[in-house]
Amino acid sequence: MSEYPVIVLVGPPAVGKSTVGAALATRLGIGFCDVDEVIEAEQGRAITEIFAELGEPGFRRLELDATLAALSAGGVVALGGGAVTNAALRSALEAHQVIWLRTTAQEAVRRVGASTTRPLLNGDVAGNWTRLAAQRAPLYQQVATVAVDTAGRSPTGIVDEIIGLLAIQEPS
Ligand code: S3P
Repeated sequence: MSEYPVIVLVGPPAVGKSTVGAALATRLGIGFCDVDEVIEAEQGRAITEIFAELGEPGFRRLELDATLAALSAGGVVALGGGAVTNAALRSALEAHQVIWLRTTAQEAVRRVGASTTRPLLNGDVAGNWTRLAAQRAPLYQQVATVAVDTAGRSPTGIVDEIIGLLAIQEPS
């Protein structure tokens, strides 16, 4: 069992949860799980295909199971941007250290680029991102232990801030 608490990254799409999560886990020498990747690996298909075949409710059911399993396994866990819309998941997060990563719409749009892998953003990335981020802000706020802004910052700088905010003792 790791000496560290489970550290969970939440926030809207394209805020850097996967990049920062992987960097934080490497720095602490603990495991990292990206829940979206787990779902795709378990289902053997991309999230866009899962949305197309099962709809958003079907995806959310898979996401609930995969997220609860990841939280039980420990380490650093990057959640999908919409996971916090599930009340059971919000309750499960109460037991953990939760980092809310935030950014600007401009930065999120830049990070998304030409990618079409996030079905809820497709069509109008700026408009959809802005709407989702605003709708979910109270939910991120509810589950978060701390909030960290990522726009224009390096993963290393963000990891430094998280380690400082959580007062984590790094491996020597
Ligand atoms: C979603 C965000 C995505 C992925 C799915 C739904 C959302 O994850 O889970 O496309 O509802 O915001 P990222 O936040 O990692 O992009």
